[in-house]
Amino acid sequence: MLHLTPRLAAVTDAVKPCGCVADIGTDHAYVPIRLLQEGKVSRAIAADIHKQPLENARRSVERYGLEDRVELRLSDGLQNICAGEAQTIIIAGMGGEQIAEMLDNTLWLRQKGIQLVLQPMTHSEDVRRALRENGFFKMTETTVAEGRRIYLVISAAWDDTKKPRVTAGSDYIGALRPHEVETDRLFLQNVLRRLQTKADALREKGDRQAAALNEIIREVSDACR
Ligand SMILES: C[S@@+](CC[C@H](N)C(=O)[O-])C[C@H]1O[C@@H](n2cnc3c(N)ncnc32)[C@H](O)[C@@H]1O
Repeated sequence: MLHLTPRLAAVTDAVKPCGCVADIGTDHAYVPIRLLQEGKVSRAIAADIHKQPLENARRSVERYGLEDRVELRLSDGLQNICAGEAQTIIIAGMGGEQIAEMLDNTLWLRQKGIQLVLQPMTHSEDVRRALRENGFFKMTETTVAEGRRIYLVISAAWDDTKKPRVTAGSDYIGALRPHEVETDRLFLQNVLRRLQTKADALREKGDRQAAALNEIIREVSDACR
């Protein structure tokens, strides 16, 4: 069986069994391959915006003899994936802003029976904002250590309820449990460092937004304590 690093293993672990998965920004296609090997899905669409990553995917798929079960597809985000083609959508290894934009712009994702598995490399608060505002609820948030980095995996589904932002910092903290889970605490400490760097830069420029950030910083800092 294909061996995955802890980050990608956390992504595949979050996927619930279904018929077809679409992996957006697939590159090597390791995630769909592993899901097929585990028997969690019976078919996969491995999509990427660039030809070279799809070529990487093609080689991996051939190596594991899964050509008849993986369709390689050129697609900018979910643009070339149609409603009903896949029940689980994975978007891993991309920036949170980019993932949020895809969630904001892909209307057909808003239907019952679709699972989203999202692994933002940055700006997880943007992903939480997009999920909230577009009527999704988070089923799980998991953090995982790989080397010196901590990664976040969010699993979500749609229930057509737009959720208000709870507090200024709630999209930064999400459902993480820093007092119970060490990697959650480490992840939030990284978020805090990023916020502090941004607030320092804004303060130096005399930008008034620094004050708004202070409220978020206080909240995230309290959550980590
Ligand atoms: C860092 S790799 C992540 C690969 C894999 N998903 C993972 O998590 O290891 C990012 C991949 O996303 C692809 N990508 C970037 N923007 C994209 C977009 N708008 N639509 C589809 N794929 C995109 C890139 O070509 C690249 O192959």
